[in-house]
Amino acid sequence: MTQDRVFIFDTTLRDGEQSPGATMNHAEKLELAEMLDDMGVDIIEAGFPIASEGDFNAVSEISKRSKNSVICGLARANFKDIDRCAEAVRHSTQPRIHTFIGTSPLHRAIPNLTQDEMAQRIHDTVTHARNLCDNVQWSPMDATRTEYDYLCRTIEIAINAGATTINIPDTVGYTAPRESAKLISRLIYEVPGACDVIFATHCHNDLGMATANSLAAVDAGARQIECTINGLGERAGNTALEEVVMAMKVRNDIMPYRTQIDSTKIMAISRRVATVSGFAVQYNKAIVGKNAFAHESGIHQDGMLKNAETFEIMRPEDVGLTETNLVMGKHSGRAALRSKLKNLGIELADNQLNDVFVRFKNLADRKKEVFDDDLIALVRAGTADEQSDHLSLKSLRVVCGTRGPQEANLELTIEGKVHAVTAIGDGPVDATFNAVKQLYPHTAQLQLYQVNAVTEGTDAQATVNVRMEEDGKIATGQSADTDTVVASAKAYINALNRLIVRREKSAPGEDIKSVSYKDAG
Ligand code: KIV
Ligand code: ZN
Repeated sequence: MTQDRVFIFDTTLRDGEQSPGATMNHAEKLELAEMLDDMGVDIIEAGFPIASEGDFNAVSEISKRSKNSVICGLARANFKDIDRCAEAVRHSTQPRIHTFIGTSPLHRAIPNLTQDEMAQRIHDTVTHARNLCDNVQWSPMDATRTEYDYLCRTIEIAINAGATTINIPDTVGYTAPRESAKLISRLIYEVPGACDVIFATHCHNDLGMATANSLAAVDAGARQIECTINGLGERAGNTALEEVVMAMKVRNDIMPYRTQIDSTKIMAISRRVATVSGFAVQYNKAIVGKNAFAHESGIHQDGMLKNAETFEIMRPEDVGLTETNLVMGKHSGRAALRSKLKNLGIELADNQLNDVFVRFKNLADRKKEVFDDDLIALVRAGTADEQSDHLSLKSLRVVCGTRGPQEANLELTIEGKVHAVTAIGDGPVDATFNAVKQLYPHTAQLQLYQVNAVTEGTDAQATVNVRMEEDGKIATGQSADTDTVVASAKAYINALNRLIVRREKSAPGEDIKSVSYKDAG
């Protein structure tokens, strides 16, 4: 308890969700916020309330529901943004307004403000925010590329105007550990009033140094780390929560800092974020990658059998990883499935469980052995909602051969009516996607098509991820099936359904991507 406390600020629902294609729906945001709250995140940045009705509603609802965490909303440096943010977070017992402006020469040029004009803007907006909320965080965006003297001047103004946390963003992932530490220690030492506020670090991972830069900043005196689950975020992403938390835990001898994160909840939330964002975790990702605790080489296995510490610096159970063992067969019941999923950190509502149960039975009929990873893939594949989905797969038969073209006979239910077509293509997947397009003409472009085998063996399930883009809107779709082409068709249809929902919901100008940083005034 004598160790320095480091606050964990999670921005998966704001900076993470801003990642193209990672859009989450309302229910998914509430569910993730509950998991973040439950695992001990100190501050949840729940969204950017001015960006859309959807963001506003999510921040408001999370503010109402959250039990332990401070709930924070983002606002640009103008009164309208700040008012909207205050309105959304006011339901929280611990609300925070986070307002920011780009202070580097490149960012100052966007709203075309002089240094003096920007200084005045910072004073006015932070004062306004502080009049609405006692807990105000201020960020000089692109701080690491801002002239040092001007950075000090703006921070001093923000502190005097009432900011309680000063966040130093490395917006483009440009800094390096030594420089990150030097900047934080100089600011804390040299800016008047710095000792009365918390300094935060917010790093992007463009050069792969986000975790190192965040930890270096903490060594230099920062006491809040801004991060996301799985490092989700624009471009190369943000600092990964699981990495900084586990680094401070495992190497507490040299980083004697304390967080209140329950690390055994890490795997469950990592899986859930991967599912709802559609961004699969790379196999060799630190802490949460599929291979992070796998020891396949003979030498490693031998060492592990003699003493787990030979190659393991942390125990799988420390991050909530349960052993991948054989699970139930086709005779297992609903209660067994519920309990198995609970063990894997997945809790489902009754109707979701029913849906997964049907698909589990279906899979158990076709696949000899159903493993933990198969169950995770089933849940991740999402639940088809016959009532609200515009399109759903009715049947698919593909004719393949050494000589193309391949042929797909497809039946698709569109708005409740079944339509059928035969289409050809360069391979079975191409033929299937062409068939969907013939029955449901659209202009969406396929940006990503990715197939992975869930487990070993020729009867393994394939998980398919699809990303589509239409008029600047991006949607991802996922599915899993022992038949790769069926999984592909379902993932494609899933992405189209999400695009249709996005088309219907976002009125022009309401989408987060159209909220430009330029509109600071
Ligand atoms: O990266 C960044 O600069 C941000 C700010 C809005 C804090 O996300
Ligand atoms: Zn950021």
